[in-house]
Amino acid sequence: MKKRFFVAICFALSSVLNFAADKNVRPEPLAGGNIAIRIDANEQSKYLLLPIEEKADEARMQIIVNNDLRRNLYVRLARGHVDYYMPVLLDEFRGNEITVITHVGDYAKTACMSEFKLSDSFDKSNKEAFRPAFHHTPVYGWMNDPNGMFYLDGKWHLFFQYNPYGSMWGNMNWAHATSIDLINWNDEGIAIAPDALGSIFSGSCVVDKEGTAGFGEGAVVALYTSAGDVQCQSLAYSVDGGQTFTKYAGNPILTSDIPDFRDPNMFWNEDIKAWNLILACGQEMRIYSSPDLKNWKEESSFGSELGCHGGVWECPDLMKISTLDGKTSKWVLFCNINPGGPAGGSATQYFIGNFDGHTFTVDSESRYANGNSLWQDYGKDHYATVSFSNAPDGRHTMIAWMSNWQYANDVPTMQYRSANSIAREPFLYYGADKQLYMGSRPSPEYDNKGLDKNVKIKGSCKIRLSNDEGQEMVFTYDQKAMTLTCDRSKSGIKDFSADFDVNAVAPVRNKLTSLRIFIDNSSIELFGNNGEVVMTSLVFPNSPLKNVKIEKL
Ligand code: FRU
Repeated sequence: MKKRFFVAICFALSSVLNFAADKNVRPEPLAGGNIAIRIDANEQSKYLLLPIEEKADEARMQIIVNNDLRRNLYVRLARGHVDYYMPVLLDEFRGNEITVITHVGDYAKTACMSEFKLSDSFDKSNKEAFRPAFHHTPVYGWMNDPNGMFYLDGKWHLFFQYNPYGSMWGNMNWAHATSIDLINWNDEGIAIAPDALGSIFSGSCVVDKEGTAGFGEGAVVALYTSAGDVQCQSLAYSVDGGQTFTKYAGNPILTSDIPDFRDPNMFWNEDIKAWNLILACGQEMRIYSSPDLKNWKEESSFGSELGCHGGVWECPDLMKISTLDGKTSKWVLFCNINPGGPAGGSATQYFIGNFDGHTFTVDSESRYANGNSLWQDYGKDHYATVSFSNAPDGRHTMIAWMSNWQYANDVPTMQYRSANSIAREPFLYYGADKQLYMGSRPSPEYDNKGLDKNVKIKGSCKIRLSNDEGQEMVFTYDQKAMTLTCDRSKSGIKDFSADFDVNAVAPVRNKLTSLRIFIDNSSIELFGNNGEVVMTSLVFPNSPLKNVKIEKL
């Protein structure tokens, strides 16, 4: 039997009645200035396609099923013209009375009423020339921070901040992708969706091998920020290796009056035989411990007087890292900050020190005094970096979001926005000044894949990466000043933001002798001395900047 159901979409002004082109989508005026669009969806109607106009203001849409609120979405519904469509999957609502109420103030003049469509398919084929060839991107929609990454049974699991209803930030879900080689990624859909506590902000996962949380041995446990009227921390768990998650009924498990209280990062600490958690709280990081991932004891806080404070502290990580010869190990605390990065906007600062499971202290306060700090990557497009839990062979493997909040919503793609960096492995090294620094090397998965260009350099030089159309990205290595400067003023499209064409400058700690460069369709990741100096940058050229030329200075 053919089941039918209704979707009613209600707008805030009632005078629009530009009737829909799809005969199964029928606008009707409602009282109170709202407009309902009733939709007859048969079994072939897998999706309701929402017409999106990127520059339109967000409209609130409530999907109500049998009088229960099932979705609260903020969507840039088209008013003047449609830029693209975003799908709402109808499967879970089928067979019910559905009402979608849309609260928009000025829909009287909108043309979009006729543009809602039912469809049995949604075209996911790539439409973007700038889509990377070997970096992870969402198939469609908006992405920011990597979240809850872990490794299990040969698979890398990447979750990420995701908006399924538009290619700009909003409606935060955790989406999921998996890979066996850190190069090719499978889209695994939405993993954790917004609920009554709010949308799902960043967080972490651990593999709870002993079942300390009571969700079973080997359960994957996620802790994320519920972002509603306030920010608080909530748990979810998976008993099928991270494919599906169940939210813990006792959420939230950590609350505070601090408005910026987010991005929990948990890890097992063998030194204290307990879990630790590091959480961004305003202008400091708080450290907690727990026997069971549910009850967290606040141990200490770090950083209010140290490092950079030009923006909000976000997305922490904390881990023990060694020099390549294994002789020196230190704890390193990662603190993403936005704005306030060295080249403007977002960036990742790090603190080298000691951690006993309770308190983190830096080795040298003077390195972090008076607003000074150390940065993991001196390019403009490296943010929210965090590590995979349970990585093989005790590895620390990290991925960063390859963008900058200054212009992430404006970069010239539309089907999707943002890519992740290639994975990197942090290590410690000594600079010529005998001080300890942290570098990041490309993960070994990228070795011998032909994805990188390797060049030797000797003394000051310019490194030009160009295409045949004359577009270029120029790095200048000044051996006297010990700096590497990245200039993308001629790299292609840049007029979407005045903050894009700003030179980034990296301090060089040891003379540069080699460069390893990963050039993709819209990014350049440069690793000097195999990761001692790292610069990650977006570019939007007509064709990839694949020609590499070194000019001695
Ligand atoms: C960092 C961040 C996090 C937050 C998330 C929201 O980019 O602001 O602090 O959890 O993005 O999407």
